[in-house]
Formats: sequence, structure tokens, C-alpha cells
Amino acid sequence: MHELEKKLRTKTAVVSVIGLGYVGLPLITEFARSGFRTVGFDVDESKVDRINRGESYITDVPADDLRALVKDRRLRATGDREALRAVDTISICVPTPLRKTKDPDISFVLKALDVVKSVLHPGMLIVLESTTYPGTTNELALPELESTGLKVGKDFCLAFSPERIDPGNKQFVTKTIPKVMGGVTPTCTQMAKLLYEAAVDKVIPVSSPRIAEMVKLLENTFRAVNIGLVNEMAIMCNKLGLDTWEIIEAAATKPFGFMKFTPGPGLGGECIPVDPHYLSWKLKMLNYTARFIELASEVNSHMPDFVVEKVAFALNNQKKCLNGSRILVLGVTYKKDVVDIRESPIIHVINLLRKHGACVEYHDPYIHELVVEHGQLTSQNSTANPTAAQLAAYDCVVIGTDHSSYDYKAIVENAQLIVDTRNATSVVRGLDVSHVVKL
Ligand SMILES: NC(=O)c1ccc[n+]([C@@H]2O[C@H](COP(=O)([O-])OP(=O)(O)OC[C@H]3O[C@@H](n4cnc5c(N)ncnc54)[C@H](O)[C@@H]3O)[C@@H](O)[C@H]2O)c1
Repeated sequence: MHELEKKLRTKTAVVSVIGLGYVGLPLITEFARSGFRTVGFDVDESKVDRINRGESYITDVPADDLRALVKDRRLRATGDREALRAVDTISICVPTPLRKTKDPDISFVLKALDVVKSVLHPGMLIVLESTTYPGTTNELALPELESTGLKVGKDFCLAFSPERIDPGNKQFVTKTIPKVMGGVTPTCTQMAKLLYEAAVDKVIPVSSPRIAEMVKLLENTFRAVNIGLVNEMAIMCNKLGLDTWEIIEAAATKPFGFMKFTPGPGLGGECIPVDPHYLSWKLKMLNYTARFIELASEVNSHMPDFVVEKVAFALNNQKKCLNGSRILVLGVTYKKDVVDIRESPIIHVINLLRKHGACVEYHDPYIHELVVEHGQLTSQNSTANPTAAQLAAYDCVVIGTDHSSYDYKAIVENAQLIVDTRNATSVVRGLDVSHVVKL
């Protein structure tokens, strides 16, 4: 491992990343920026071509930076696994979704390991970054890689480092988010730490890959459970006729022992709705039910129904019914200001509204076409904000995602009825808001 250590210290190591998506592209960009020569591998040819043309498809990676790195030959992408034969390190950033049964789907990790196996050579460092259940690195990746005859800690290094990126977050990015690192052996941790320390501000070594895997699951289970709690709080406040948001804001003035979470139409994105199920699946093997995870999932997945109930009641108060009403949904991405609809709960809201006979249209500055149940919707003039006349033409406007680009004053002024699932209209002062219904 002395050779690898020398290459990492002198930045002469060739660094590679498998999977160039929301996680992998920012990561490889950071490695390249730090001075390493990098090779990105992806099975998606269009991503490979775009990177090599210097085009960024991830908002958090500025196109100018990517173009400069490609031009300087610090970064290149490939779909040819042979190109990985000459690299010294591989970080694996492929998807880890759930099957329909909510069991882990680690087929992408297995395929990536297959690629790694075919190019593994002495003096190599492999780091798994995909979120997964505790034990994946030791029980799955290690035997796969050692089946080549090479020995961990002696011939090659293997570690797990959870990815904590928060797409769209300008304050905390790949470089500034501390990186937890757990190697299979102390040498593995040391080598992985050396690599990542060159590109990110802080690396936190832990005693094993299992600990590192569990750190990520604790973080995301913490979020899922607290979001579940605050969503249930919204349901309870609704029954009690209380304003959930006023209560949350007042509670958040406590300077200790309270962390503010806000209700919404449900969980979205690639991580929070998915990751806790990796943990509960693993525990099922040990005959244990992860009750908080199951309960939070039950509450969170009920939220689209709660939103639709709210819309139905609000229309009812105006002597209208869901069936036949024209509804405009503003914002469909899973959170504000991102181009990402993965697991977005707003899609469920739209499906449910349509199921009840509502005529649903949507507007989202980031998403021009949306696949829903039994069809496809096209965004209403998505580049510009809806006009006053457009807003007034619908029986109800549902604020699904609180994009910063929306003019909430114009929405409050012109819409007949608003169901605001994000409390986005709270910024509007001095206007009549009696037609605004919040969660
Ligand atoms: N997106 C996030 O905010 C986020 C945050 C933290 C952790 N994670 C975790 O990071 C991992 C990656 O997530 P992502 O959001 O970057 O996914 P993504 O879908 O954006 O990107 C994954 C990339 O891997 C490629 N790929 C799939 N199989 C491959 C293979 N066999 N070989 C090479 N490339 C392959 C895909 O083409 C795609 O470009 C997941 O485990 C996810 O849970 C994601």
C-alpha cells in the first residue's frame, strides 16, 4: 500500500467514480478540482457524452467549472470499463432504490462491483458511497472483491463512506459536508481518508464500514421520523381546529431541545422515503420490527390523501365538488428549486385528484412534462409564472412545492381558492387570506 499512499499524497493517483448522477458528478468534480486526474464511468451514454462536451446536467455542478476541468484533461467520462484498469481508486455512487415490496434493490451495486472486480489490481482503493443496509460492505462487497484472489488490507483497500449531499443546498456542498469514513481494516480507513481529505474539508474516521453505513441510516431515519411526527401533528391540529404553522413557529423559539421540522404533502427524493427501509429490512432478518420507521412511513405516505381531503373540503365550502373541478398544481418537484421529481408526493396528489374526477393541470418552472397514472401532463407555460387570468381560471390552486420563483402575492390576489401544502403564502402580508387553506 506504500505505492498507493505515495500516489495519493503526491496527487499522482488516477481517481475514478462509478455512477455520475446527483452524487457522483459533484464528487468527481471535487476530486478533479483538488488536483487529481479523474475518470468517471457511467452506463448512461448520454451522460458520458455530455460530460465530455463539458455540459453539466446537475444544478450543483457549474457548467463553467466542468468545462474547464474537461478542457484541462483533469476529468473525462467513459462507458468503457477497460478505462478503469489504469485507475488507482474507485468510488461507487450508483442508485440503491427499493423494490415494489420495499425491499432493498442492490442490483446496481452488484453490477458496479462486477465492473470493479474485472479491473481490480494490487494497490487499489475502493470506496462504496451508495446508501445501503449495515453489513453490505463486509458481507457483500468484500467477498466479491476477494474472490479475485486479492486480499483486503494487503493487496487492496475497501471502505464505506456515506454520501450526505443535499441537492440545491448552496451552503453545504460536497466539499464542505464532513465525510464519515469506515475502512475494513485500519489501513483501508487511512488510505480512504487520504484520498477524501484532498477533496473535502473534513473526514471523520469511524471504526468500521458497518458503523459508517449505520450513521447514514440514523441520519435519514431521524429525518423521516421527525417529518412523520410533524405531519401527524398537522393532522391532529386539523382535527382540533388549530393552526399547525403558528404552533411550530412558536415552538421553534425555544433555544434548546427542539428542532424545527415542517409538515408537507409527504416524503420525496431518493433518500428519506427509501433509506429507512434498508434498515428495517435488515432488522426483519433478525426478527425485529423497526416500529418508528414503519409508523413514520405509514403517516408520511398518508399525507397525499390528507392533502386531497383538504382540497375536497375547501371546494365543498364553496359548494363545489372535486369531480369536474379545475385544479392547478403549482410545483411538482419533491422539494423547492430542484429539477428532481423522484418519489415526489405531489405526483400522488395529482393521481388522487384525477381519480376523484378533478381536471388537473400543473405548472413547474423545472419540469415541462410529467408522467402520471394513465397518461402524461404538460406544464402550463412553465417558463413564465402563471398570469393573473390563469390563476383566476381554476376552482382551486394547490401549492405543491414552494419554488422561490413564484409570486405568492399574485397567487393570493388572483386565485379563487388555495390549498397551500408548504405554508408558502405566509410571506404575503396585508391581503385577504380567507381563501387560503393550509395543512
Ligand atoms: N441524490 C441525493 O440527494 C443523495 C444523497 C445522499 C445519498 N444518495 C445515495 O447515493 C447513491 C446515488 O444516488 P444518486 O442520486 O446520485 O443517483 P442517480 O440516479 O442520480 O445517479 C446514479 C448514476 O449511476 C449510473 N449507474 C447505474 N448503474 C450503473 C452501473 N452499473 N455502472 C455505472 N453507472 C451506473 C446511472 O446511470 C446514474 O448516472 C444512492 O445510493 C443514493 O441513495 C443520494
